[in-house]
Amino acid sequence: MSKPLANKLALVTGSSRGIGAAVAARLAADGASVIVHYANNAGRAEDVVKEIREAGGEAEAVGANLSTIEGTQSLIASIDQAFGGKFSGRLDILVNNAGTVEYGPFLESSDQSYDNHFNVNIRAPIALAKDAGKRMAKTGWGRIINVASAFGEAAPLPGVTLYIATKFALHGFTRGLSRELGPLGITVNGVQPGPIDTELSPNPGDPAYDTMVKLTSVGRFGKATEIAAAVAYLAHPDAAFTNGENLTVDGGWNA
Ligand SMILES: NC(=O)c1ccc[n+]([C@@H]2O[C@H](COP(=O)([O-])OP(=O)(O)OC[C@H]3O[C@@H](n4cnc5c(N)ncnc54)[C@H](OP(=O)(O)O)[C@@H]3O)[C@@H](O)[C@H]2O)c1
Repeated sequence: MSKPLANKLALVTGSSRGIGAAVAARLAADGASVIVHYANNAGRAEDVVKEIREAGGEAEAVGANLSTIEGTQSLIASIDQAFGGKFSGRLDILVNNAGTVEYGPFLESSDQSYDNHFNVNIRAPIALAKDAGKRMAKTGWGRIINVASAFGEAAPLPGVTLYIATKFALHGFTRGLSRELGPLGITVNGVQPGPIDTELSPNPGDPAYDTMVKLTSVGRFGKATEIAAAVAYLAHPDAAFTNGENLTVDGGWNA
């Protein structure tokens, strides 16, 4: 039986670990050829690629620092070279997943922290979506999926103000862009994870971990695969009528 994303090229930013790694594996299992992007962890990106290939899927790793304009441009430039140029000019699925957070009081935050949050979490996704939208418009089919956060529509905790500002921005960008690209056959949606068990979130034993568990109604952290399932739905051809949606997958956190 043919897979739903067969002959589709997907780029998943920040897929060397955490949520992105689970998304890359899931889209590859659904038939997509996946560019596994990383910033520093080339070895871990290669591990993700190896696991995908061993499961019968197609993947390649590409490194780029999305905190700089040059790094973002180098990732865009590498898309045409992926898989021996087989998909040159195309990109069918963009998952803007790479993200960063620094915890601490806003009044003590640095300009560098502002730059890092905004460059990685919002400027790079916008630049990538602009390039991806042009590629997708040529084929009349595309999926742009922005991984925002439950912090993209509510602020239940202090100490993550700059992060929250970027995720609200990404939420708004998703909605605005969906209006422009919907008529071109391209859907633009977001996924808003609650607390997910990755290196970005607090570890068990950290008081913040228990606070976050209590903010859910299911009483636990989520798994990266539970976010990957939401992304897979939005990437699926059957999701063509879902556009401008920010799908919250947060264990009841924002209810
Ligand atoms: N975990 C949660 O509880 C949670 C909740 C809500 C939303 N989210 C969002 O979900 C997304 C993934 O989070 P995660 O928990 O999987 O994070 P993670 O485990 O910390 O992984 C972050 C990924 O982003 C990449 N990355 C970090 N800084 C980068 C930069 N400057 N340039 C390019 N890539 C960079 C990392 O690459 P390297 O491995 O090379 O460093 C890695 O692949 C983020 O957007 C995050 O805000 C997470």
